[in-house]
Formats: sequence, C-alpha cells, structure tokens
Amino acid sequence: MCGIVGYVGWRDATDVLIDGLSKLEYRGYDSSGIAVFENEVIKVAKSKGRLTDLQNKMNQEGKPIGHAGIGHTRWATHGEPSDRNSHPHGGGNVTLVHNGIIENYKRLKEFLLSKGRVFESDTDTEVVAQLLDYYYQENHGNPMDAIIRTMQELEGSYALGIVFADFPDKVYALRKESPLIVGIGENESFIASDMTAILQYTKNYYLLEHDEIAVLSKKQVKVYDLHYQKIQKELKIADWDVSAAEKCGYEHYMLKEIHEQPTAVKTTITPRITDGLPNLEECGITPEKLMEFHKIHIVACGTAMHAGTVGKYVIEKLARIPVNVDIASEFRYREPLVSQNDLVIIISQSGETADSLAALRLAKKLGAKTLAIVNAKGSSIAREADMLIYTHAGPEIAVASTKAYMVQIAVMYLFAFELALANHAIDEQECRRLTALLQETPEKIAEILEHKEMTQLIASELITADSLLYIGRGLDYALSMEGSLKLKEISYIHSESYAAGELKHGTISLITENMPVIAIATQQKLFDKTISNIKEVKARGAKVILVCREDYTPEQDIADYKFGLPDYDDLLMPMLAVVPLQLIAYYTAVHKGTDVDKPRNLAKSVTVE
Ligand code: M6R
Repeated sequence: MCGIVGYVGWRDATDVLIDGLSKLEYRGYDSSGIAVFENEVIKVAKSKGRLTDLQNKMNQEGKPIGHAGIGHTRWATHGEPSDRNSHPHGGGNVTLVHNGIIENYKRLKEFLLSKGRVFESDTDTEVVAQLLDYYYQENHGNPMDAIIRTMQELEGSYALGIVFADFPDKVYALRKESPLIVGIGENESFIASDMTAILQYTKNYYLLEHDEIAVLSKKQVKVYDLHYQKIQKELKIADWDVSAAEKCGYEHYMLKEIHEQPTAVKTTITPRITDGLPNLEECGITPEKLMEFHKIHIVACGTAMHAGTVGKYVIEKLARIPVNVDIASEFRYREPLVSQNDLVIIISQSGETADSLAALRLAKKLGAKTLAIVNAKGSSIAREADMLIYTHAGPEIAVASTKAYMVQIAVMYLFAFELALANHAIDEQECRRLTALLQETPEKIAEILEHKEMTQLIASELITADSLLYIGRGLDYALSMEGSLKLKEISYIHSESYAAGELKHGTISLITENMPVIAIATQQKLFDKTISNIKEVKARGAKVILVCREDYTPEQDIADYKFGLPDYDDLLMPMLAVVPLQLIAYYTAVHKGTDVDKPRNLAKSVTVE
C-alpha cells in the first residue's frame, strides 16, 4: 500500500526521496510524488504511473533542489490513479503525504466546503491537508497546535508526513494505526513507512507509536504526545544489512527470496531449539501454558493463511487439538465462537495487515490468549499479541510471498512439536526425531534449488493456459492452495486449488486438454488415492504436472511432466514441495513478461480492509 518517505538534512532531498520511494515500490502503488523546499519555497512534482514516470517528468520540468521534503507512492483508494489524485496534497500553508484511510472524510469535506475551501482532488488526503491548514490559520500559524487539533477530528488510520511553507527546515510526522518510523542520522533525519527505505543512510530509528507527533530538523528529532508533552523515545538499531534489501545479482527479488529460504529457516528455528527439543520460552510459550488450551484458531490472510492451513494439519495430527483456520476478514465480522481457553494465532509477514490486526484485537476482547507469528519487527501485530514468535526471514520485498511462507510453516512445525509433547500426544523421542528432521530441511531445500531446470520447462508449457487446477490430498491439498495463489498473483493465469478427492463432485467437468493440472502427491498414505484422481483427469485429456518423490516413475497415463523431490518424512514434505511450486509460478510469470516483483493491483502490506 502507500509508502511515505521524508528527509531533512544536508543531502539532495529529491535524490533521497526518490531512492527511498524506490525501496518502497514493493508495497504496491500506482502513482508517486514529492514536495521539496527549494529556496524556502515548496516545489511539488507528481505523476501517475511508476517512479520512472515521475523522474521523466522532473527531467523535463526541472527537479526540485533542496535539503528537506516529503515523498509518497500512492495505492489508490479514494479517486482513480491520476496526476491530480497523487500525493503530496496541499491546502494553503500545508503540504502532506498520507498512508491509510480517513473514514469521516466526507463530513470533514462538507465542513470545509461550507467554509469556502476548494478541492482539487477526489482524495481523503486533501481533506486532511485543508483541515490542517484551516486550523493552522485559526491558530495563528502554530503547526503543533494545528496538528493536535486536526488529529482530534480525524477518524480512521493514518500516517502523515507534513511540511509547512512557513517552516522550511522542518518535517512533521505522525501516526495512528498506519506504521511510520523516524530515522536518525548525522545531521539528518528521515521518516519512512518501513526501514528498507532509509537503510542505506542509517540503521538508527525511533518507532513512532499511535498518536505521537515527530518534529524533524537537521540537528534533532523531538517527539510529542497529543498533550504536547515531550516523549523520550528508545533508539532502536535495525539488524538488517543493506544487502537484505538489494537484488544482489538476481533478476528479481522473488527469485532471490526463494533462494534465501534455507538460510531463513535456519535462522528462524535454530535459536528455538535446545538440546534437540523445541524451546519457545523466549517467545513467552511454556509447556504449562500450552496445556491450558482446548482449541486453537489460526487467523490470517492470503499466503499467511495458507501457512496456517499447513499448521492445522500438523497440529491436529500430532497434538490432537482441534484447530480452525480462518480468513481474517471473515473472522472479524462473523461473531466467532472463541472462549477464554482458546488460543488465537495470528500469522502475518508484515504485522500490519488491517484485517489480521482487527482479528487479533477481537480475539483479545473475547478473552482468548493470542500468539503472533510475525516477520516485521516492532509491527502492530507483534506489539499487541500476548505471545510472539518472530520469523527471521529478513525483509521480503517481492509482493509474492515465498520465504515468509517457508518460515511461517517452519514455526508452525516447531509449535506443533512442542504442543504435542506438552500434551503427551507424542513422547520425547518422537519429538526429538521430528525436530532433527526439521533442522535438516534447509539442506533439502538447497538441494532442490540446485535442480530447478525442470520448473523452467514446466513453466514454458503453462504460459498459453487460460486456467489451471492444483490438486492434492491432506497436506498436499493445503500446499496446493499456496501453489495456486502464487501462480495467479504473478502470472495472471487463473487457477484453483482443489482437494483431489472432491474433484468428481463437480469440478471435473472443467477438465479438457486446455486445462493443465498440477498434482501434488507427497503423502505416502494417500499416494494411491491421489494417483487414481490424477488418472481421472488424465483420462479426460488434461496435461498433468506431477510433484512427487524422485524415486517414483509415473507411467504415461499419469503424468506429462514430473518434478522429483528428495525422499523425506511425509509430515515435512510441504517445506520441500512448495519450492517447485514457487519456481513454476516465478518462471511462468517471467516467460509471460509480467512485473514479477510488483504484480498489478497488489500491495505488499494491506493496511486497509
Ligand atoms: O503481511 P501479511 O502476511 O499479513 O500479508 C497477508 C497477505 O496479504 C499476503 O500473504 C499475500 O497473500 C501475499 N502477497 C501472497 O503472496
């Protein structure tokens, strides 16, 4: 979703803003813009389209030159993507950029129209700029008073970067719900929606909390609450390396992130294993606590929800506790049956997904204990849950999630092992065996990555397809959901995932020679049954791509292509089998020439519902 960058210091502000915005491109956007003080006058440049469109425009019309300013990438909500609706927006003395949604903007707009204000865009953001300027005039040019007064009126979620024409050496920033950080450098300071935007300038930052206002100048940053009281902020240091947010020779971030999976798994699980057994104590999870839960709800969106579905199969199989998996946007509005003895697990890469955050808050309100499995440090979900397991995937830049999914399921396994042991559903020996197997998965994943040519060949077969089916049983079905989503989101080819045994209850009527089927058959107990289902689609003309163990040689009436996986325990096969599915989606998108890392209409962090 929208990205914000702000700068005040000694560097060329336009360069810093454009560079920062380019690091936020992954969040998804359809227009961009900057406002920079040039000779103490605010100069605005904005354009629909990609950052390159903005740069081309500035090359033609002149680039603002100065040392303070704000920048924005916009993902349209109120008003179509256009130059006119792009941020920054202004009102008199005020120019600002905004991430989030102002829910009561209509009422505020009517008020401002009644005061003779004229609007130039369809956005909720311009309403904030005009309102802020209205109070600024009313408060005789006092920015802080005007900001506090405006915040009292706004409903919704927002992070704002603001400049006042009368204060050319300052940038103001504030947040409610939508994330914003303040970077601290040598004689310079920054604001950004996330750390990747400023990582190359500084690793020192403040995490702005709800209803906090930061005033940035070259020499210092001051943070206030809504009563204008100064707040002492804790300086945090990002532990990410600059290269974490670079492509490092890979053609796309997605490919780089797929290759980072072995390391990401190792970094995530190693600190949580002691003497061969899972140990989640540092995350606030003890065997005693685990024994209290009668039921588990896993709530998340998209890929994170698919990771939760793998978690359900594993937890129920090993720990024998009922698990519901819910889509967060459904959970939050369907009056879910959650009790005080239940555990609600929220899984989120960004930790800022609006629906998942709302689901977490609802679960807490209903008295359940909550556990967050989150990748982004210090994010809202991470901070609000009772217990927290960070996944250590590092920044995930590609919109299509790969390494985050991998570590989410790795954590699901660790959690399931510990829970099963705590409940005496498995003994210590079995828990050790499973934990050791999990520890070996990074090597197995690396092995698969070394033999990925077949996925390129398969992808070249898929590019002409209009629609595809992914099928599997048990854990393979859970995995097929993720395979299908990956293909859809980046290649724009329609696909569905289906439980293989359910096909003949309707969906098999879709099968023709034009509907390729990707069949996943890694579960030995279900293998023969899955093969029978594959024969059913093959007999109806479908081209079949089979993902199974290497040592199985399919006959011609079963599969056209096979991707072979190393032999491993059934339970852990999803960690291996997901890799070819990610690669098939990736290469199909590459063959089709789509924008792999920034697929159309999508945003990395969905901070609006
Ligand atoms: O940041 P989150 O994990 O909460 O995001 C949830 C989904 O929006 C996300 O997984 C989405 O489905 C991915 N783009 C899929 O690749």
